[in-house]
Amino acid sequence: MAGRVWRSSIREALSRSLRSRAVGGAPGARPLSAAAGGGGGGGAAARAAPKIPPSSKKGRLLTGAMIGLAIAGGAYVSTADEATFCGWLFKATKIVNPLFALLDAEVAHRLAVSAAAHGLVPREKRPDPPILNLEVWGRKFANPIGLAAGFDKNAEAVEGLLGLGFGFVEVGSVTPMPQEGNPKPRIFRLPKEGAIINRCGFNSEGIVVVAKRLGAQHGKRKMEETSSSSVSSSNEVKQGGKAGPGILGVNLGKNKTSEDAAADYVQGVHTLSQYADYLVINVSSPNTPGLRKLQGRKQLKDLVKRVQAARDEMQWAEEGPPPLLVKIAPDLSKQDLDDIAAVALALRLDGLIISNTTISRPEPVDKHPLAAEPGGLSGKPLFDLSTNILKEMYILTRGKIPLIGCGGVSSGEDAYKKIRAGATLVQLYTGFAYGGPALIPQIKAELAECLERDGFKTVQEAVGADCR
Ligand SMILES: Cc1cc2nc3c(=O)[nH]c(=O)nc-3n(C[C@H](O)[C@H](O)[C@H](O)COP(=O)(O)O)c2cc1C
Repeated sequence: MAGRVWRSSIREALSRSLRSRAVGGAPGARPLSAAAGGGGGGGAAARAAPKIPPSSKKGRLLTGAMIGLAIAGGAYVSTADEATFCGWLFKATKIVNPLFALLDAEVAHRLAVSAAAHGLVPREKRPDPPILNLEVWGRKFANPIGLAAGFDKNAEAVEGLLGLGFGFVEVGSVTPMPQEGNPKPRIFRLPKEGAIINRCGFNSEGIVVVAKRLGAQHGKRKMEETSSSSVSSSNEVKQGGKAGPGILGVNLGKNKTSEDAAADYVQGVHTLSQYADYLVINVSSPNTPGLRKLQGRKQLKDLVKRVQAARDEMQWAEEGPPPLLVKIAPDLSKQDLDDIAAVALALRLDGLIISNTTISRPEPVDKHPLAAEPGGLSGKPLFDLSTNILKEMYILTRGKIPLIGCGGVSSGEDAYKKIRAGATLVQLYTGFAYGGPALIPQIKAELAECLERDGFKTVQEAVGADCR
């Protein structure tokens, strides 16, 4: 729609410019007669007009070239279909993206969230390749590529981010009470390594603010779904979760000073689960003291039981409650993984997200001047570590539990490797922070190519291919 409006305004501007030249004016200038205020008395009016110095040959050439370019460009734009135009918009973000690198990391991040919240990012109009469509937990995903938690912590930009073409977006981590998080600076870029070190410490506006925001969006998304269904053909498969097109995950955290972690997650469930297509218990952030201890066998079992009970006590419509997932760290021993797998299977957990950031500093980050900054490392150097844990967990859970592979994904080939290692869905954060919106269609196209190249007909077929 925006593309059509833009193209028609270009066409209009061009024809206006041509009309004005046809009556002898410079592009954009009023015809001389009108400029002089005359109504047809051409000769006198022309005499009264101020003398315009004859333009130089260079100037005339430049004006001619610009008009030529505008006409050619306008003609090209007006013949482009919506898909081509959409492709241009995504490519155009590559020009703007490097400018973000000039800003402080957190300022750049705020700006990006704000741009997405105000619709100042491209909107994907091209359908995803059918090979990428899949169904998980009874929800239809247009593609398996999602935005990881931490980017839109307070659910400010869900529509804009889903509009970029992510198959799903996870908001949070959200804590029950609002909290500031750690002092700034707390996000450090390592661009050469394609990595970030962060120690945000769950800066969150809290569950009440996020619930209000999601409540407002929930209604809007519902309306959009209704209006789009009135124009779509009846046999079209509708993508998305219960709140409308696109799948929304809500990632829950705990307050730094809270003594009863389970009570915090339960509060999150009570307030936010009605808006979520899936829920995540985040017990793996390295920036909240004691949090990762909740991954121990007994602690995890008790926690999951309490959260499941809180969710199941609530009144749910026919489709049932949102699936419950646990997000784990990449810094776990074999024993830890065995324990988590046992709990996940015993309590019929709906999924695991593997993984959060690492407290380790794998090569080449170990030699980086910022390596000693406390916090979790994400991005390319995390890829192998998180993919190995993913593979182990897929084997331990015997492929019975959907896994979301996260950590160091920055290409379609990376996403494909996660899927082959056992991921049904894939998430990224750091790759997106560096690559910007243009990376999303690129990853999806590359992933579709990888699947086709190796003879898979669906994503599901490729899940765990390297573990068989
Ligand atoms: C600045 C920043 C903030 C993050 N905040 C959260 C968070 O609040 N909750 C969470 O579960 N993960 C958080 N993460 C972790 C990411 O969701 C993801 O698990 C991790 O970065 C690995 O993926 P990546 O290599 O694609 O970035 C954050 C990551 C970054 C870089």
